[in-house]
Amino acid sequence: MTSPGFSVSWPGRGEPEVPGEQGPAPRLVEVVRDADGRASGAVLDGDGARIAEASAALEEVGLGPTGAAQLVYLDPPFNRGGRFDGYHDNMPRLTWLSYIEARLVVARDLLADTGTVWVHLDDAEAHRVRCVLDEVFGTDAFIADLTVESNPKGRQLDRFFAGSHDRLMVYARDPGRVRLAGGVASAVDPADFPHVGEDGINFRLLPLRNTNKRFNPRTTPTMTYPLYGDPGSGAVSVDPAPGLSEILPVFGDLTPAVWRWSRARATERVDELVCRTVRGRSGPRVDVYQRDRHEAGRIKKLKSIWLAQEVGSTDTARAELRNAGVDGFRTPKPEALMRRIVELATGPDDLVVDLFAGSGTTAVAAHALGRRWVVVERNPETIREVLVPRLRATGA
Ligand SMILES: C[S@@+](CC[C@H](N)C(=O)[O-])C[C@H]1O[C@@H](n2cnc3c(N)ncnc32)[C@H](O)[C@@H]1O
Repeated sequence: MTSPGFSVSWPGRGEPEVPGEQGPAPRLVEVVRDADGRASGAVLDGDGARIAEASAALEEVGLGPTGAAQLVYLDPPFNRGGRFDGYHDNMPRLTWLSYIEARLVVARDLLADTGTVWVHLDDAEAHRVRCVLDEVFGTDAFIADLTVESNPKGRQLDRFFAGSHDRLMVYARDPGRVRLAGGVASAVDPADFPHVGEDGINFRLLPLRNTNKRFNPRTTPTMTYPLYGDPGSGAVSVDPAPGLSEILPVFGDLTPAVWRWSRARATERVDELVCRTVRGRSGPRVDVYQRDRHEAGRIKKLKSIWLAQEVGSTDTARAELRNAGVDGFRTPKPEALMRRIVELATGPDDLVVDLFAGSGTTAVAAHALGRRWVVVERNPETIREVLVPRLRATGA
């Protein structure tokens, strides 16, 4: 729901960043080209908040970013009080919030109308940043606040609870025009489709009956109509025919239910329906099932909790760095996580921007999926010793 004029405030908001916190204007240090010699990626050395100042350099490589990014990903220092790999993680709370706000405004300006911003944090600061996101992007631009399992064993050194998850907040640049995939192919489990059809394509049987008790002939009268079937041959028809008996949708306790498909859709896709005898709570009865095929390109809607077994963990991410022959960066994100985000939020050739590049996982994922990318990192040592060697080792 929209809250026009929603606004948050804190002491020091809008004041210039403390000296030394705002880094230098970004400089182009590495351009990656595709097989045709076109620039497909760029590494900038400097402060993500000043990316606009690098527009000339970016245009030179055909990546002029203003309003062009389909995805902006931010994985800033979480502000948990640690010190990592040459960056501080212990700014005063409200200074840190102003620092994040400045970069969220930049992210908004970089995004295309159809694009999304993804902000990766943990629960130390996420609730305050949600408020700032509501203000910068608008309350109706909120898409999701995902839980990402980052440490399945849990951080045993934490005081009360062993922290094991991060937060991933997703907002649209324009909720009316946003483009985001409804799921990903990699989440589809082939084992869920155990039957093999005559065409060799695997399928599963889904009840055509709507199993949600909220839907019944009283609440959804148009979805209750007779179908006709023969459990011996499996045949189903929307019209009466010799040898077929009438089937009405019922729940397991035989109370009236409704179908998931309208009569028009059942007529159009009758070839996908099959009649079977089922042994329900009230004895055997005849029911109708949909043959749901595991076709190429099929996607699955994702849940709002992402498990390490699906998207990797901090440990997997560190192993990926070691496999690329680089070490010494302690807070990388796993490649499977970044591939999932890029796959959901962008299409081929779209532009991905990361304002806190670190070891470059976003660039690796974007490159692997054929997206163009621009990443900005303020620590020149990280660029020199981790990011660029990793891109070269992974062929990006
Ligand atoms: C949590 S790490 C990002 C990790 C990255 N997602 C990866 O997979 O390796 C945060 C990174 O942001 C960098 N950083 C901090 N402030 C920055 C700024 N203002 N502009 C650009 N990079 C910054 C730090 O040097 C650090 O490498």
